[in-house]
Amino acid sequence: MKAILVTGGAGYIGSHMCKYLANKGYYPVVLDNLVHGHREAVKWGVFYCGSIQDQDLLQQIFNNHNILAVMHFAAYCYVGESVEKPGKYYRNNVANTLRLLETMLENNIGKIIFSSSCSIFGEPDKVPIGESHPQNPINPYGRSKLMVERILDDMDVAHGLKSIRLRYFNAAGADPDGELGEDHEPETHLIPLVLKTALGQRDCVNIFGTDYPTADGTCVRDYIHINDLAQAHLLGLEKLLDGSPGGCFNLGIGKGYSINEVIETAGRVAGKTINSQPADRRPGDPATLITTSEKAIRELGWSPRYSDLHSIIETAWRWHRNNPHGWGG
Ligand SMILES: NC(=O)c1ccc[n+]([C@@H]2O[C@H](COP(=O)([O-])OP(=O)(O)OC[C@H]3O[C@@H](n4cnc5c(N)ncnc54)[C@H](O)[C@@H]3O)[C@@H](O)[C@H]2O)c1
Repeated sequence: MKAILVTGGAGYIGSHMCKYLANKGYYPVVLDNLVHGHREAVKWGVFYCGSIQDQDLLQQIFNNHNILAVMHFAAYCYVGESVEKPGKYYRNNVANTLRLLETMLENNIGKIIFSSSCSIFGEPDKVPIGESHPQNPINPYGRSKLMVERILDDMDVAHGLKSIRLRYFNAAGADPDGELGEDHEPETHLIPLVLKTALGQRDCVNIFGTDYPTADGTCVRDYIHINDLAQAHLLGLEKLLDGSPGGCFNLGIGKGYSINEVIETAGRVAGKTINSQPADRRPGDPATLITTSEKAIRELGWSPRYSDLHSIIETAWRWHRNNPHGWGG
């Protein structure tokens, strides 16, 4: 059985990855402490409830399964919270990751796909943001992701640990079959917030900043469908299994949509008018974040299927409409 350890596999991206892996003939071994994940979202493979910092549990997993590689999604991901509680973020995202890497090496597991983030770049000097853009993260969350990228480089030099670091821009959408979706608590991502407003669960959407130097004054972001993200992970995994030295790849669709465009598109998908109101800018929100994924297309053979926002939001809306209270409902 081709077992892959998926840390954070009960979370939004990790759970979709497990379905994708299972469909491609792999056996996902999920490790998640359910701090933010959902037991109901683990439908493929086997589930271990616990933390990546628990060395005994990791050892038990490595003894029980012939793990070919690790996909490491487990992390805390709230930028604002990371500013208020940096220690929490460095402990979980960096120190606990180090524990995972060392236990992997002790067990001769030398391949990992790491969930990095566009936040390692900070305020961009120019867009689209390529892999070689300067890395100047502006919050502890982004710095924690960059630190792990550096640790992975050093672990390669010293111990031959091979890694693929995928820097996602904005993960969005849901499983096209409707079996999985996005349910964060608290929710901070724009598309779920807009769809919750469409469902009448919120009065309106706050637009943080309407005076940015963009076409309509609101922030512009690059949204990538969750299944296209999963496809990139699988291609990265297969490269590593084929002996590739690894590398880093930015992942987005190379198109930017403003907050106003997201709200209008979601309104069309849901057939509702979605109320919004202007609010103050949030510190550290760059005006425009768009990437180019040419390297992933060229070197991984990545071919994203979802190239427009409407089709991405349609999959998310199906999940939200059928699961208005998320996994808890
Ligand atoms: N969602 C995005 O747009 C986005 C963008 C860039 C990067 N990322 C990265 O992708 C990864 C997944 O993001 P997500 O949106 O699915 O988040 P998520 O919160 O839904 O998933 C993270 C999962 O990790 C688990 N977890 C956290 N700490 C753990 C620990 N110590 N041991 C075991 N499990 C632990 C949580 O319970 C949760 O299920 C994260 O590393 C995040 O930083 C996400």
